[in-house]
Amino acid sequence: MTLLVTGGAGFIGSNFVLDWLAAADEAIVNLDKLTYAGNVHNLASLQGNQRHIFVHGDIGDTALLGALLAKHRPRAVINFAAESHVDRSILGPGAFIETNIVGTFALLEQIRAYWGSLAQGEKSKFRLLHVSTDEVYGSLGAQDSAFTEEHRYEPNSPYSASKAASDHLVRAYHHTYGLPVLTTHCSNNYGPLHFPEKLIPLMIVNAQAGKPLPVYGDGQQIRDWLYVKDHCSAIRAVLERGQVGETYNVGGWNEKPNLEIVHSVCDLLDELKPRADGVSYRQQITYVTDRPGHDRRYAIDASKIERDLGWKPVETFETGIRKTVQWYLDHPDWVAQVQSGAYREWVATQYGQA
Ligand code: NAD
Ligand code: TYD
Repeated sequence: MTLLVTGGAGFIGSNFVLDWLAAADEAIVNLDKLTYAGNVHNLASLQGNQRHIFVHGDIGDTALLGALLAKHRPRAVINFAAESHVDRSILGPGAFIETNIVGTFALLEQIRAYWGSLAQGEKSKFRLLHVSTDEVYGSLGAQDSAFTEEHRYEPNSPYSASKAASDHLVRAYHHTYGLPVLTTHCSNNYGPLHFPEKLIPLMIVNAQAGKPLPVYGDGQQIRDWLYVKDHCSAIRAVLERGQVGETYNVGGWNEKPNLEIVHSVCDLLDELKPRADGVSYRQQITYVTDRPGHDRRYAIDASKIERDLGWKPVETFETGIRKTVQWYLDHPDWVAQVQSGAYREWVATQYGQA
């Protein structure tokens, strides 16, 4: 039995692949384009592991996808591949449309053809799990209830709009063709292997480098944080026990304003690796111009996945953020390599392109 995972060299995908291969016998075919966010070094510990087959390629490459599906005959596909950074989507939405919408469409078409060719027994067991985000629901007011699966779609950034479009395509392929799909909407993840352009890893890395810690606007925007390994366990639960055609919100009931997150990171660094001058890392906080169209608050109501699938996160924010800060302190080589672009050079050497 085999899984096809897309985007498995990114932050969440690589955590998922590592956890899966540590716990299960099943092989993974890992298709990743290795954009700036994809890093094969995240998977270095799998070198020589026969159950991990890495394929450098694009979900939009229909010939490649068709060949991979025919050769490996996966029992499920998990789609992590995406452009994922809101700020980048504001600066240049094109890549988000290309991968998140057109790429997902290409993937769906190839999966539909493959699934249609399966024998009845395999066909009914096959699953496509599409990994989406809470950001498709838009922004909540301070007093609003957390997002349930019934919340209307109201995406506000090019990133969330492109993810919303991909969700609609996935839904339509179930409704129209009967493709057995599952969709998850997770809140903000944090943890090991997170590219330091997103809030938490950026703050950890900048703090140690003596650089400013840029807080957008008043820093009172609220996100709902989940440790990445808990997101991975939720995906496993949905894959194994989720009801076809259903959507599941995934979250840790951990709403926090950004400034509180930055303070937590600074305080942990003060404890674990204090500045030589004894001054708190909080001194490095700087308030910068807000993100255009910045969503004020996200919050996930995770009752459905808890009730129907018996899933619960293992980490609290306090345990998860401590593990995360410690991981970055323990892996300066990973950070240096990501920042120096050395892994991009490796891609160019290995695959003949940047
Ligand atoms: P990431 O940006 O770290 O990784 C994305 C991966 O996809 C990279 O390895 C990249 O090389 C690959 N990729 C990009 N375009 C591709 C293409 N056309 N073909 C094949 N591979 C391609 O993202 P992440 O944070 O790991 O997010 C993974 C998924 O989870 C995304 O779909 C994202 O929308 C969703 N999600 C993320 C979060 C979060 O907090 N990070 C929360 C909820 C949902
Ligand atoms: P981010 O990690 O980019 O995730 P998302 O925008 O998908 O929620 O940002 C999390 C929050 O942190 C968001 O409200 C924007 C804010 N933020 C900053 O204040 N400063 C920063 O340097 C970054 C990257 C984000």
